[in-house]
Amino acid sequence: MRILVTGGCGFIGSDFIHMLLTDMPDVDICNLDSLTYAGNPANLEGVEGRFAGRYTFARADIADLSAVERILAEQRIEAVVNFAAETHVDRSIADAAPFLHTNVLGLHALLTAAQRRGLASFVHVSTDEVYGSLTPEAPAFTEADPLVPNSPYSASKASGDLLCRAWHETYAFPVIVTRCSNNYGPRQFPEKLIPFMYFRACEDQPLPVYGTGKNVRDWIHVRDHCRGIWLALTRGRPGAVYNFGGAAERSNLTVVHRILDFCGKPASLIRFVADRPGHDFRYAMDYSLARRELGFAPSRTFEQGLAETLDWYRGNPAWISNVTSGAYRTFLKTWYGDRL
Ligand code: NAD
Ligand code: TYD
Repeated sequence: MRILVTGGCGFIGSDFIHMLLTDMPDVDICNLDSLTYAGNPANLEGVEGRFAGRYTFARADIADLSAVERILAEQRIEAVVNFAAETHVDRSIADAAPFLHTNVLGLHALLTAAQRRGLASFVHVSTDEVYGSLTPEAPAFTEADPLVPNSPYSASKASGDLLCRAWHETYAFPVIVTRCSNNYGPRQFPEKLIPFMYFRACEDQPLPVYGTGKNVRDWIHVRDHCRGIWLALTRGRPGAVYNFGGAAERSNLTVVHRILDFCGKPASLIRFVADRPGHDFRYAMDYSLARRELGFAPSRTFEQGLAETLDWYRGNPAWISNVTSGAYRTFLKTWYGDRL
């Protein structure tokens, strides 16, 4: 199968490419990525050489319809998995425009090109954040729950999910949407909670915990998420939506304490700072549909996966200095200001 993976230089897309090239000898991949601040070619270092003839890279914007159409044709693509997105909630609060460009208009161009070409498989990677926020006692989100996004990021992702629905209902286009909880693992850009807190703890910098730190996320290892996406691509029902989760609800404070323990650093580094506006309190996923229809189940406990992940960051200092460049430092100053 020849697959177009978009956003393959990002955190999850690169893990998906590593997994397929290593485990699925019959799969060839074209990685289409515009290389935003979050797109890091070092995430796929050595892949072109090790998997010669099975991997190509095309630098393009998913919103560029003619470029996407050309790549689908030239690469003789049979399936699309769309990871490309603007993904950081805090950045969406500062400026929503790039989120609407990629997560809505970009997805529209991809769907249009794929439908015109008559592709039989298209997986759009979405998020639990489209469902909004849960109270502590509420049952986990199911696919039947309404979309109630609260941040510009989640609103743009929910809009994308609705476009997918419309493409299935209107054009019978066989798109599948997957919604997953918070991922962690190697190669995550260090604006997200786990690598961010780890790098700061290593440097004895204060750790800015929003609000009370009691907000809850359900954590899943990136490889478990990627296995779920592969199952959706190969066994999923066209038009379906599948939730994936890690069965690992933890408060932010619990996660930060575990990182401090791993680094051997004191809790006095924690600094409670002004909350994120519109901060969702809790996410939790009911993934029984994916278990039943796809055979999906997460394979790692959070504690095991977190230790492996932090070991990876510890063992890859060159990767870290590569991503924490000047632009990253500027973002931190602009976003956190005097909260740090
Ligand atoms: P990321 O920010 O690490 O990477 C995004 C990638 O998309 C980058 O390589 C970037 O260069 C590329 N990109 C951005 N705009 C583009 C455009 N217009 N054209 C082409 N490429 C573009 O993101 P991630 O954490 O790997 O997330 C991947 C997908 O998974 C996203 O759709 C996200 O919404 C979804 N998701 C993420 C999580 C999570 O916890 N990280 C959880 C659930 C769902
Ligand atoms: P994040 O990794 O940004 O993912 P998301 O907002 O998409 O869930 O944040 C995870 C949680 O950690 C979220 O509740 C916000 C919180 N958080 C902090 O408390 N401080 C921080 O500096 C960051 C980046 C996140």
